[in-house]
Order: sequence, then structure tokens, then C-alpha cells
Amino acid sequence: MKQIIEVDIRTRTVDMARCKTDVLVVGCFSDGTVLDKTVKALDDKLDGAIRGVTKLGDFKGAVKTATVLYSHGKIAAERVMLVGLGEQKKADLDTLRKAAATAANQAVSMKLKSIALALHTGIGDKLALSALGKTLAEGAYFGSYRYDEFVTQAKNGRPGSLRVEVVDPDAKRTKKLNEGLCAGAVIGRAQSFARTLANRPANVINPPTLAKAAAEMVRGVRGLTCAVFDEKQLKAKKMGGILAVGAGSHTPPRLIILKYSPPNKPTKSLPTVALVGKAVTFDSGGISIKPSADMDQMKLDKSGGIAVLATLKAVAELGLPLNVWGLVPSAENLPSGSSYRPGDIVTTYSGKTVEILNTDAEGRMILCDALAYAAKQKCGTIIDVATLTGACMVALGNYKAGLMGNDDDLIAQIRKAADQSGEYVWHLPSGDEYAEEMKSKIADLRNTGGRWGGACTAAAFLRQFVGETAWAHLDIAGMDIFQKGTEYAACGSTGFGVRLLTTYLMNLTS
Ligand code: BES
Ligand code: MN
Ligand code: ZN
Repeated sequence: MKQIIEVDIRTRTVDMARCKTDVLVVGCFSDGTVLDKTVKALDDKLDGAIRGVTKLGDFKGAVKTATVLYSHGKIAAERVMLVGLGEQKKADLDTLRKAAATAANQAVSMKLKSIALALHTGIGDKLALSALGKTLAEGAYFGSYRYDEFVTQAKNGRPGSLRVEVVDPDAKRTKKLNEGLCAGAVIGRAQSFARTLANRPANVINPPTLAKAAAEMVRGVRGLTCAVFDEKQLKAKKMGGILAVGAGSHTPPRLIILKYSPPNKPTKSLPTVALVGKAVTFDSGGISIKPSADMDQMKLDKSGGIAVLATLKAVAELGLPLNVWGLVPSAENLPSGSSYRPGDIVTTYSGKTVEILNTDAEGRMILCDALAYAAKQKCGTIIDVATLTGACMVALGNYKAGLMGNDDDLIAQIRKAADQSGEYVWHLPSGDEYAEEMKSKIADLRNTGGRWGGACTAAAFLRQFVGETAWAHLDIAGMDIFQKGTEYAACGSTGFGVRLLTTYLMNLTS
């Protein structure tokens, strides 16, 4: 896969004033002490240039703000970037992640080639250094990411690579930072990989080409394998849900199955977690066709599945002592003479029959086969990720993903990982009263519920396919895309889920 911007990231033990770089990035709090003591020392060398800016009121240290000063040879760095961290008592890991992302985003826009992050210095002992290293690496990848592989007339000549250093004057501290930074770099790279794959349009990524990308991804990654069920195997296995959704398109459906086990380790006693991700490479709605406004965004309906692929890549590169499966059902939902129809009754892999009331409720139809397959293989835990319902966006906006499930411990673990990774979730219900709405008079289930609580009824539908397995569902509709670029991110795919799922899996091993 084409590398979009190559990020080369490491830690370095160096005095701030002696750090040679295109831009040295320091954090500033907004309350009272805008200047942390390490920043004050730097400012003395700059003859009070930083104090000057803050005195003018041009920069107040608010989050998502940054300003650049020129050092005129007074320190080794060409420039100093001040990035706002907001109120000191509110600052957490995600504040630092977004600050690093803001800085990296600006650096790429300024066409700089190197950046040194000293953002963690004012945070004191509140946060562990290794967690800070992880967060800064994730942020640096996140903010420097661009998607421009189809822009042939590059007007701007952005740099092909960015060298990122996380700097600290104390070698012991650098070592701790570096432990987290190595993991953060793996996760950051995986997330950028996910964003590129998701940003690719539906005339490039369809179920077969997505399966090829998955097969290519596992090449050379130790412990990770990829198998693909094509339409013939899907028929043989009676995966009626995936086949129904894929029936309207010339590009046939697939089920991608990734398996990871740590190499050279006994793996029988390790827990097995199955991640299941929706990969509808384009969701037109099918016969129940969507309105045309913003339909282009439905190329991102594969985001959940891609988050699963990228998480498997990260887990394998980290060599986590776990068995992890990635099940990615993929189909293109189009209207045509061969499409599935409203009124059809589909027999799914589980044997359960589903009355189709709306062909646009296709995500649950492909997920139910993959969930039933995971449950049948007897894995301990199943987590699915899907851009499943507009209703979830109505409920939560695009700040938090919906989290549903049948196991309180699993819900708690995912909530913890969400807070650590800055990919936030909100627990929503999906119990029996919601499941009741999904019963059909002429089949076992129907694929849509009533008017209200659509995110919850969708989850309640999925719950019917996991049996007794501990299961959680992440509805990431609305979290998959930045409609506009922000201070810390380019527009397009967010890669949501890669940090959350990888952090959840890392937590299982510590
Ligand atoms: N992929 C959509 C959900 C979606 C909508 C994701 C907007 C991101 C942005 C999903 O397949 C869908 O169409 N869901 C329907 C379900 C309904 C027909 C029960 C919806 O939410 O309208
Ligand atoms: Mn749909
Ligand atoms: Zn969809």
C-alpha cells in the first residue's frame, strides 16, 4: 500500500534549548501559569519572546490553539510552536494526544521536515511517562496524516516524510517515554493504514479488492494469517445474510478471516477474542435507496471492518500474548435486478430466518453471519464494530460511539480503553424490550424495528446471533468521518476504533 506520509518517530535525550529541529513544540496551560517552568527556562533563552506573545493576548493556551515564534538563532530550533493545553487540572492523555496532533498537522501544512515534541514537560507526575509516550506517538501520526494519493497535480509539494522526536533532558525519563512511544507508533501507523484504506473510493475498494488488501497486509507479519471465503464458499457455508446484501452488485461479497496467535508461544491457554467489523464498501441503501445528498460518504461504510483489519495488524506487530481473530464480512449494497428486496425472507448462517423490511438495514445482515460464525468457533469474547445506524448519530452526535453488550465486565473494560485511547463511547441499552421489536410474524426476526431507538433495536438484533458468548457492539456511525478538517486532523476517515480496540487488547495482557 502506498505510504501517504512516512512518519519516523523516536525519543531523544536533549536539553530543550539545544534541540536542533524545524520546530520545537511546547505546551502551555491557559490558567494563571501559562508558562511551565521548563518553558520559562526556554523563554529566558529567547529573551522573553513567549511571554511577549502571551502578554499581548495573542495566545492564551486554550485547547486547539497554536502559535509559531521564530528563534533567530537564540536556541538550536528554528521555530518554537506553542500549543494550548487548556486548564491544567483538566489536562489528560487525550489533551496531549490532540496537542501533538495539532502540532504535527501544522508542521505538515508548513511543509516542515522535522518536529520535536516537548509537550509532556509541564504535565508533571500526574500521568505515567510511558502512557505519555504512547499518546504523543498516536497524536503525531494522527495529525500528520493526509490523504492525497489521487491528486496528480500536487500544487503544494508537501513533504514525503516527517521526522518526529519526543525530547526530554533526562535519559531515565526518555527511556520510559520510549516504552510507550514504540507501542504508540505501531498503533498510529495502523490507524493511518486504516484511514487510507477507508478513504479509498468504492470504484477502488470493493469486497474482492478489500480481501486482497487484507491478504497483502498480513504478508511478512509474524503470527498473522488471512483466509477469504469467496461467493462460492459463502454459498457452501450458507451465509445467507452476506450473500443477500451482496447480490445486487457486480463485485461479489467476501468474508475475510484473520487469525493471530503469538509465534513461538503455547497459545491454548491464552484467551481468544474475536473482532467482527462491518465492511460495506458502498451503501446506496439498495432497493430501499438512500437520498442522494452525501451518499458519497457511504464509501466509508466499510470503516468498522477496516478498523478490525488494522487492529489485527497492530496486535501482531506488538506481539501481544493473546489469540485474536478478525472477521470482516464485506459486501456492496446496490440496487439492481439481482438485489435482495423488501419482503424477502433470508436464511442466515445461524439458521435463523430474517424478514427484510428495509434493504438499507444491511449492516446487521452481514454482521449476523460473521457473529454466528465467531460464536460457533467458541471464542471467549466477541466485539463487533460497525457504522450501523443513523439513529446512533441522532442519539450521541459525533463525539462518542454507541456501546451495547450482554456482559458488564466487558462493557467496563471497553469503557476504560475508550478513556485511555481518546476514542470515546457511551453505553446504551439493547435488552429484551428492544429485541421484542425485532420479531417477525412470518420469520424468526425482521431487520428493522419501530421508529424509535434504532441504535438499540439494531444491537438487540445482533445479540440474537452470539448465543452465550460475552459480546459487545460498537456503533461507530458518525465517528468514521471528519466532514471538515479540524485543528488536529485532515478531513475524511478517522480510523476510529483502531486505538480503542488495540488499547482494550493491550489491557488484557497487562
Ligand atoms: N450505513 C448506514 C448507517 C449510517 C448512516 C452510517 C449515516 C453513517 C452515516 C446503515 O446501513 C443504514 O443505512 N442504517 C439505516 C437503518 C434503518 C434502515 C433501520 C439507518 O440508520 O437509517
Ligand atoms: Mn444501510
Ligand atoms: Zn450501511
